[in-house]
Amino acid sequence: MSIKRVGIVGSGIMGGGIAESAAVHGFEVVLRSRSQATADSMAAGMEKSLAKQVEKGKLSEEERSGALERLTTVTDIGAMVDCDLVIESVVEELAIKKHLFSELDRICKDHTILATNTSTLPVIEMAMETGRPEKVCGIHFFNPAPVMTLIEVVRTITVSEETIAEARAFAEACEKQAVEVKDQAGFIVNALLFPYLNNAVRLLEGGVASRDDIDAAMKGGCGFPMGPFALLDLVGLDTSVAILDALYEEYKDPHFAVVPLMRRMVSAELLGRKSGRGFYDYH
Ligand SMILES: NC(=O)c1ccc[n+]([C@@H]2O[C@H](COP(=O)([O-])OP(=O)(O)OC[C@H]3O[C@@H](n4cnc5c(N)ncnc54)[C@H](O)[C@@H]3O)[C@@H](O)[C@H]2O)c1
Repeated sequence: MSIKRVGIVGSGIMGGGIAESAAVHGFEVVLRSRSQATADSMAAGMEKSLAKQVEKGKLSEEERSGALERLTTVTDIGAMVDCDLVIESVVEELAIKKHLFSELDRICKDHTILATNTSTLPVIEMAMETGRPEKVCGIHFFNPAPVMTLIEVVRTITVSEETIAEARAFAEACEKQAVEVKDQAGFIVNALLFPYLNNAVRLLEGGVASRDDIDAAMKGGCGFPMGPFALLDLVGLDTSVAILDALYEEYKDPHFAVVPLMRRMVSAELLGRKSGRGFYDYH
């Protein structure tokens, strides 16, 4: 594999986790945030997370300090210039991602692979903003990125075999299982998961059962590690609505039509853990 230095653009829930995964596994990581305050809080969050893993015996002290030494946080997107792979993980909005890809294409060297962590948006539309569509693919991590063991490698109709092989090798170097999927909204996991999450909100809105009973039912009855409302809060309700909208746009299937309660909660800034309140209260 030729990837040594990895750029991450976007420092929300996912960007920080992806940066941590890559740094722990020996990659030089440049994490770009729009503000210095967010960049600093990302670095602090990673320090805390790594310290916890040392406490639990999952990482050695050397691995912890090595990962921190390999992480650089920046606000200037120009710092992506010497990365071999850049993974964007900004807000789930196609116009923003397309603009970012054209910017990265201008900044990065010719050999650089540009990847998106989008959950649902068409990767080909981002690829076509660049002069290197054969070097653009999806590298889709799961939340929380340092913990979840899967990466979906998304194959567009323009990507080269070499890029797919590099993306797979990167996933494996991060000790993740790579699965390959076509560039279709929701890929594998979210195409199956989001109708279920949306239907859980529909049951709640219809008064069929309470939040706690629905979450308890799916944990106890299906063996899921968390119920649908705890998971929606973890993903973020704004991101969940964006994912469902993209799925609906692609398939026009009513199972993907966002249940009104979820949209109203986003308007009320009840976004889940990241805003302190969603279906549950985190204060
Ligand atoms: N939340 C999840 O469970 C999850 C899982 C897998 C993939 N994803 C995907 O990861 C990406 C990021 O999601 P997240 O959950 O980290 O979201 P988030 O809301 O936590 O973070 C979004 C980030 O985008 C930044 N941003 C917003 N507008 C921007 C702009 N105009 N230019 C540059 N940056 C901008 C924000 O400052 C923030 O750092 C999305 O594509 C999402 O679909 C999310």
